[in-house]
Amino acid sequence: MLLLANKEAWPGFPTTVQMLREGAISLDAMVAGISKVESEVRVRSVGYGGWPNMLGNMELDGAVMDGNTRDVGTVGAVPNTLPVARLAHEVMKRLPHVMLTGDGARRFASEIGFSEDDVLFEDSKRVWWERLEKELSPEELAKFPDIPLAPLSRTITDPERVRDTTVFLSADPTRGIHAATSTSGWAWKYPGRLGDSPIPGAGFYADSRYGAAACTHTGEMTMRCSTARTVVLALKFGYSLSDAVKLAVEELNELSSGFLAGVVIHAVDAKGNHEVVNFRCEGEIRYWLWEDSMPEPELRAAKQA
Ligand code: GLY
Repeated sequence: MLLLANKEAWPGFPTTVQMLREGAISLDAMVAGISKVESEVRVRSVGYGGWPNMLGNMELDGAVMDGNTRDVGTVGAVPNTLPVARLAHEVMKRLPHVMLTGDGARRFASEIGFSEDDVLFEDSKRVWWERLEKELSPEELAKFPDIPLAPLSRTITDPERVRDTTVFLSADPTRGIHAATSTSGWAWKYPGRLGDSPIPGAGFYADSRYGAAACTHTGEMTMRCSTARTVVLALKFGYSLSDAVKLAVEELNELSSGFLAGVVIHAVDAKGNHEVVNFRCEGEIRYWLWEDSMPEPELRAAKQA
């Protein structure tokens, strides 16, 4: 048994480990762990601690994938709802669909008993408004939000607020290989923007026969390259895990236009190997690893691409 997650998974990783140790279904264990990450305000890229869109509204994305069946459930740009990885799991279990977004996802949440809550954290609201005050003229501020937002989306890209995500991957010879994600997405994103975290093939993919991958940071890169699917397809074609991730990195590296920034690829294979590779993200990237031979989870450093 192996469990892999990015560093921001710390509030929920031990819960998932404990549940897996006790024999839980892998996706149930990962969704329970991610729900804890989503409610922890000190994690500033996921759930309640995350950042709002340009209008100051939280729009959350989440997903699950069962690698045994390749069933997927995802939700995108969901307002007033937590936990969204759990909501994505319910989409997978209850609907003939793969993805719900926006008001439809909110409606489904109400139908199945999720409460409707203001999930905008006071500090996120303060930082968002201060940022707008810096960027907008007094005339624009007076008219806000009835101003064109597109020019703003080109200027208020915020390098201090990373486009992070929480990603969990589990691999077990009997339970199979599974993936789950959750994020508040890009700080100050244009309303309705989806990142890669709810997009199967881009932000996550799992196939128990070969392996799984999930990405953090710039969804605008991985959505253009189907990064997670590239890794798993390369495994299917016989690449080693390390070469499969290298291929996905090469494809990211070939992009030369549009919004270009960093990506971290987390990957596991069906043989029990794992790789976490940092492509152009600043600073040291770390991740959580637990294998059933380990008494405690370990925080390790990602490789540089
Ligand atoms: N990878 C998170 C996002 O782009 O929203």
